[in-house]
Amino acid sequence: MEAIGQLTAGLAHDFNNLLQVVDGNLELLGSHVENDRPKRYIDNARAAAEKGAKLTKQLLAFARKTRLSPRPTDLTQLVSDFIDVIESSLGSAIHLQLNLRRRLPRVMVDPEQLEMAVLNIIMNAKDAMPGGGTVTITTRSMHLNGDAAKRDLSSGDYVALEIADEGDGMSSEVIERATEPFFTTKREGKGTGLGLAMASGFVQQSRGRLDIESAHGEGTLIRLIFPISHAQPEPAEPVQPTSDHQAEDGAKIAAHILVVEDSSEVLELGREILESAGYRLSTAESGEEALRIFKSRDKGTFDLLFTDLVMPGGMNGLMLADEIGSIDPDLPVLMTTGYNEELVVAGPDRPTRDVLGKPYRRAELLDRIRQALSNRHSGERRMSSEYGSVEA
Ligand SMILES: Nc1ncnc2c1ncn2[C@@H]1O[C@H](COP(=O)(O)OP(=O)(O)OP(=O)(O)O)[C@@H](O)[C@H]1O
Ligand SMILES: [Mg+2]
Repeated sequence: MEAIGQLTAGLAHDFNNLLQVVDGNLELLGSHVENDRPKRYIDNARAAAEKGAKLTKQLLAFARKTRLSPRPTDLTQLVSDFIDVIESSLGSAIHLQLNLRRRLPRVMVDPEQLEMAVLNIIMNAKDAMPGGGTVTITTRSMHLNGDAAKRDLSSGDYVALEIADEGDGMSSEVIERATEPFFTTKREGKGTGLGLAMASGFVQQSRGRLDIESAHGEGTLIRLIFPISHAQPEPAEPVQPTSDHQAEDGAKIAAHILVVEDSSEVLELGREILESAGYRLSTAESGEEALRIFKSRDKGTFDLLFTDLVMPGGMNGLMLADEIGSIDPDLPVLMTTGYNEELVVAGPDRPTRDVLGKPYRRAELLDRIRQALSNRHSGERRMSSEYGSVEA
């Protein structure tokens, strides 16, 4: 399973780069096209690229390589906040029953990923009850002692989120394989076999566990267990001050960005987006080349380093950022990556570092570039929650 995880993560990483190029160029093309019909072709192609991106997301979650933003979260609150989405996913033939405990201890999870996992489980429940029935969502505290080891968890306090249905249930063979990627009993085109693989990978990456209780003809209960967190809830992220570098509209000051990316297609796309927004660029295709360029210029030449994280050769993005940081510690750094390399987990040792996940949209890139540039001026601290946790 470990080897499958490695392979999956590697594949998904390369796919993210490809999807970045496909979708990014389609987005640029779209802005030059007026005609309805070609616009529709572009939209269709972009929708397919988006599906591809969703697939790679599920694969990364399975491989436990998602860039998580864990926050102390009340699971009852989380379920309540997106109950409308759950209800509309289930449709009118299925009755939803809630059994939510109030004032639960918080758990450290990435709320967006957890919602994705819950929706995957909800969709399975719906598929299991084509004739209708009831789905019950329960939240509760749990104390594990004796049976903790059996579940590969240390003893202590946990919170459980349970989703139960009244469908056909699973045989023990299916239970055994249900969290394997691409295992599905659904007919061609109906299931990919990634729903539970994503959910269980995500839960494990969050130091929890996914249990399946089911038997033929007796419905299914999926239980997600997370250790309770003793961290205080973080204050809301401060509103970003608008920067002087409004390059996009009017190009007040054209900030100079050093862009480092080993894939020439991704580099080309980045250049297209950033230059058309008015930024000045210097580009390099490796960490070594970037460092040479940086050292050959006067201090203060560059306003931002925008670098890929994972690059072949001796110097990855993090090492490059360290080298450059030892020369100019105030230079903001925006890193980009297709997945959460374990080296990121060491976390932001500098306040001026940020990570942008691939594939990203034009607007997202410009937004994060602006934010990163404003860091240079305000010295603002980005929160460590930008960085995920990967299990060792
Ligand atoms: N609630 C459930 N009731 C009965 N069987 C289930 C249930 N949830 C999952 N399964 C079984 O586990 C298999 C794997 O589930 P998973 O969600 O990973 O993939 P899928 O639903 O087949 O496809 P995808 O979620 O990618 O569209 C399913 O094909 C089904 O056989
Ligand atoms: Mg599914």
